[in-house]
Amino acid sequence: MTDLPGRLAAELAAARDRTLLLTDHDESELLRQHSPLMSPLAWDLAHVGQQEDLWLLRRGDGQRPGLLPPDVDALYDAFTHPRAIRVRLPLLPPVEARAFCREVRSRVLDRLDHFSEADDPFDFAMVVSHEQQHDETMLQTLQLRPGPPLLEPGDPLPSGRPGVAGTSVLVPGGPCRLGVDATDEPFSLDNERPAHWVDVPGFRIGRVPVTNAEYAAFVADGGYTTARWWSHRGWEHRRQAGLDRPQFWGRHGTRTRFGVVEPLPPDEPVQHVTFFEAEAYAAWAGARLPTEMEWEKAAAWDPVTGRRRRFPWGSAEPTAALANLGGGALRPAPVGAYPAGASAYGVEQLMGDVWEWTSSPFRPWPGFRPMLYATYSAPFFDGDYRVLRGGSWAVATSILRPSFRNWDHPIRRQIFSGIRLAWDA
Ligand SMILES: [Fe+2]
Repeated sequence: MTDLPGRLAAELAAARDRTLLLTDHDESELLRQHSPLMSPLAWDLAHVGQQEDLWLLRRGDGQRPGLLPPDVDALYDAFTHPRAIRVRLPLLPPVEARAFCREVRSRVLDRLDHFSEADDPFDFAMVVSHEQQHDETMLQTLQLRPGPPLLEPGDPLPSGRPGVAGTSVLVPGGPCRLGVDATDEPFSLDNERPAHWVDVPGFRIGRVPVTNAEYAAFVADGGYTTARWWSHRGWEHRRQAGLDRPQFWGRHGTRTRFGVVEPLPPDEPVQHVTFFEAEAYAAWAGARLPTEMEWEKAAAWDPVTGRRRRFPWGSAEPTAALANLGGGALRPAPVGAYPAGASAYGVEQLMGDVWEWTSSPFRPWPGFRPMLYATYSAPFFDGDYRVLRGGSWAVATSILRPSFRNWDHPIRRQIFSGIRLAWDA
């Protein structure tokens, strides 16, 4: 039998190591706001502890006293305080935030030491996922931050393969199983459940994500000055926001990445595009964005066995040879870097590298039931959100599955978002 409490403790520790590494900066750095889209890092730091206290020590009952005084605890409620104004709140100084997080963690580890039938391991996994997702958010903040770099250069990545950019594979029509159940994936979040059958008509999908070189051809061809490639809303946003290239691209073949200006790598997946830009690029390229059903079928369905695979490549846990995950690289890998990570249909780099915009609005699967953290998904179902699939290089390996659903406003692009094309078959 596996040591489940031990595994949960290890995953909590891994998330915390990452949080502490990303917030190992001067106090003034952590309290500063780099963009109205993002919290000061000091807010994220105390918020991960406050949520751990709420879900694991207070079992989700916000009326029960937590470790922080109620007025301080309330500062870290994401629904009460929009990101843009968090810099004006009387936030805990980072030293106190770290001490608070340590105290919560020591009590949570006590709970794991006395783990019993009454404890639901899912709640611990949910808290791991929450902290790891905030670590990705903090990387977005650090990418938006002007000034000299704070992070070490990223880990090396495998080389790409020539000839794969711009190619596609056929996914024949037919039924497949979408989503997962707790029995298959005990730590899947509420919006991934339940598993259900869908019939997906045949389609083609890009073997790899769209590269910087491919996207640069769209820019050079007047993509940002030609309304016909854009939806009405997309064009209006492009005009009002003054978009003329992906965020962080310079004018002459460079980009800024975590404070370093460098040549734009031609064979790396394009990052930092809005849904509207992704949609316009696809129209220019004679394609469209995949639906999330198409994406998940291409990633997880095995037409030979008639069953889902746990990961695109099979059942083996993700490794550095299969996908670019975990955040260490600080960038996507060049296309063609992970032939061993291909899905049953031969689609590559589905997990890791960039979040891929889909054409699907964020909606519940039929039979949806909210989890303990009931406001994680449900308040966003009827909003103006588009689903992103696959996970970026910044996502922790332990929290990702082909069923994982991310969502954001169609105008957002500080996220590590990219494009994969699809076509009707
Ligand atoms: Fe949160």
